[in-house]
Amino acid sequence: MPKLIIANWKSNHTLESAQEWVEQMVDLLQEEQVVSNPEVAVAPPLPFLLSLREQLEGLGIKLATQDISTFEAGSYTGEVGAHNLLGLGVQYVLVGHSERRQLFGETHQEVALKAVKAVQAGIKPVICVDKPYFADQLEQLRQEFVEAGLEVASSDLLIAYEPIEAIGSGQGAALEQVRALMQEISTKLSKAKILYGGSVTAANVAEYLAVCDGVLVGGASLQAASFAEIIKQAAQEQSQSE
Ligand code: PGA
Repeated sequence: MPKLIIANWKSNHTLESAQEWVEQMVDLLQEEQVVSNPEVAVAPPLPFLLSLREQLEGLGIKLATQDISTFEAGSYTGEVGAHNLLGLGVQYVLVGHSERRQLFGETHQEVALKAVKAVQAGIKPVICVDKPYFADQLEQLRQEFVEAGLEVASSDLLIAYEPIEAIGSGQGAALEQVRALMQEISTKLSKAKILYGGSVTAANVAEYLAVCDGVLVGGASLQAASFAEIIKQAAQEQSQSE
């Protein structure tokens, strides 16, 4: 199974610098041809999605978004719902990132509803959790899926373990801590794919990938060179473990 690497640009880049990033990536990944192993996705700020789409897809890089609305189509000024993303080639959406929870007060229920909306639209939600609340979050998720009449196999779920203190700190979580939480999560969702996020760089990505199914990369994805290096390290780790 290819590992999954998702770049989360958050609210960084201008259209111009985003386009430069893609141009540089085309050069940097030249010898890799098309990226397929690991699987790679980029979550840019929404307004850039369409203008980056063709080149990213040409590289084999998939499109992701950083959030989604809990609402259906309607009078919800400023919201972007799953239905608005249809036809844009979006394959993954992050839901419940800790910045959304902390800065925008997102609740477990909202996060679970976002995951439901994504699944209904055929987009894979990447459900971000941290240790203090992951059990409650997963329970809420189960409830919302049942309420929506959705049967979601745990093998279709993607959970991203992102310890708050590791995000943007330059200090990734200890491998033991990651391994322990992976185990706890998989006792509840035996077949879910579990990603790790928090200060992932080219220097530590191989270690994390050895214990989980993929990584979410914030800061180190903003420069094409460092993100390309992460992809290369991951490809190497993968070829060694096969
Ligand atoms: P970071 O961000 O890689 O900059 O720590 C990760 C994230 O917020 O998903």
